[in-house]
Amino acid sequence: MEIKAEKKSILDIDADVIVVNLFEGVKVVGGVTGIVDSAYNNVITDYVINKEKFSGKYMELYELPIIDKNKKIIIAGLGKQEELTIAKIRDLTAKIVRTLMTKEHVQRVVTVLHGAGIGGLCPKGCAQMITEGALSGEYSFDKYKTTKKENNIKEFIIAEVDDKKYESAKAGVEIGKIVAESVNMARDLINESSQYLYPETLSKFAVENSNVETKVFNKEEVKKMGMNAFLAVGQGSVHEPKLIHMHYKPENPKKKIAIVGKGITFDAGGLDLKPPSSMLTMRDDMSGAAAVIAVIRAISFLKPDVEVHAIVAACENMPSGSAYKPGDVIIAKTGRSIEIDNTDAEGRVTLADALAYAEELGVDEIIDIATLTGACMVALGSVASGIMGNNDEKIAEFIKIANKMGERFWQLPMYEEYGDSLKSDIADTKNTGGRNGGASAAGIFLSKFISKTPWIHLDIAGTAFLDKPNSEGIKGAAGVSIRSLIKYITIQNCDCHN
Ligand code: BES
Ligand code: MG
Ligand code: ZN
Repeated sequence: MEIKAEKKSILDIDADVIVVNLFEGVKVVGGVTGIVDSAYNNVITDYVINKEKFSGKYMELYELPIIDKNKKIIIAGLGKQEELTIAKIRDLTAKIVRTLMTKEHVQRVVTVLHGAGIGGLCPKGCAQMITEGALSGEYSFDKYKTTKKENNIKEFIIAEVDDKKYESAKAGVEIGKIVAESVNMARDLINESSQYLYPETLSKFAVENSNVETKVFNKEEVKKMGMNAFLAVGQGSVHEPKLIHMHYKPENPKKKIAIVGKGITFDAGGLDLKPPSSMLTMRDDMSGAAAVIAVIRAISFLKPDVEVHAIVAACENMPSGSAYKPGDVIIAKTGRSIEIDNTDAEGRVTLADALAYAEELGVDEIIDIATLTGACMVALGSVASGIMGNNDEKIAEFIKIANKMGERFWQLPMYEEYGDSLKSDIADTKNTGGRNGGASAAGIFLSKFISKTPWIHLDIAGTAFLDKPNSEGIKGAAGVSIRSLIKYITIQNCDCHN
């Protein structure tokens, strides 16, 4: 499906479907929707206002039963005008595409630039979201299905006559494509079976798809770097661990940032084996890794003045004769010793070394993204991700930007008492304590491996992999946090982040 903006009236574009919109409760059909209404004998006014067939509630879609045998009009509900956001436009467009794409006769769709008319939102942001939504609507992970979901839509066109708005829309479409392709790439990676996706194949994928300089370190090299904590987690698997370091370097970076993704390609729990129901989706335990690969790919095309390092310590957490054991003491890269209390709290053990590696790069800021704790999932469900760190200002800024992108993050506390359960008799720290306050305890554990760099920790355990469709209609791998991270890194390039 090709998505583009055209500088034409919506009526002058040859299409099988015209998509217009209405806010909830409108009594007079205006804007571009009004133009379409007048062109077709006030059919919209007739069905919406006179016959009350459509209320304009957010996400409501109504197909007018008429007109032209070759043309359909779909009205999309934008909900209450004061509540419309660009993220809502994305989810709405995903629904529109998902609804239309399987209809055989629908090959060309033309849409108004939702939100940029009476809605008053930034045209660039609206076009970006329409593009992202369209490409999300089309997404499905069906490579292992014999019958695949076909998308019959060949062209999805945003019509805009106004010069300035058209130019903004065109730019927004390009950004939207970069972001959406990156998000869908991550979804594919996360959904992929762990039989095929393990540290070596993940690292090859990163080399081929990150679109930036990418170094992969093998076990011996990682050993020389003193990353014993990372290696301990991977030692029970037949698959060799790989440290992946991707690097985007613009000419005069204003800032340097490292993003670190948890990269457990399968988390069986290790010798502290998970029960079957908890293990079932644990191929998603590299969602943080997928996110950072996707983010740096997008960054390589968006080219902000920010230097970005993306780091993944990839391994598998398996039980076996060579696996690390409860009670083992490991000396991490920083020299700090870790007593393994539970081999299933492996993510933080790998991140201890990955964060230390990131800090050695001398960056201004570190963000880690991890499917880290079941406790975070218990606290926030799949509705919001957890966020912690050592810098409240940056956390607040991240949350604000993420919300704008339609992703929710909720700050969890890092009171020092949460660290009490990590006290060890034989080492500097244990990797876990009790069950209670588990997300915060994990945050405290990670903080011990960063000495001074401002740091944000994103716990996406509950939001990375969904058992029912979200507002965008996505099930399975959600690709969460990617859009927020891209926006957070590129924010200075943006003219619509009010
Ligand atoms: N990968 C899991 C966390 C997780 C749970 C992610 C559910 C997605 C959905 C992590 O490695 C883990 O096993 N954490 C343990 C820690 C515990 C042993 C302290 C957990 O949360 O149960
Ligand atoms: Mg685990
Ligand atoms: Zn895990």
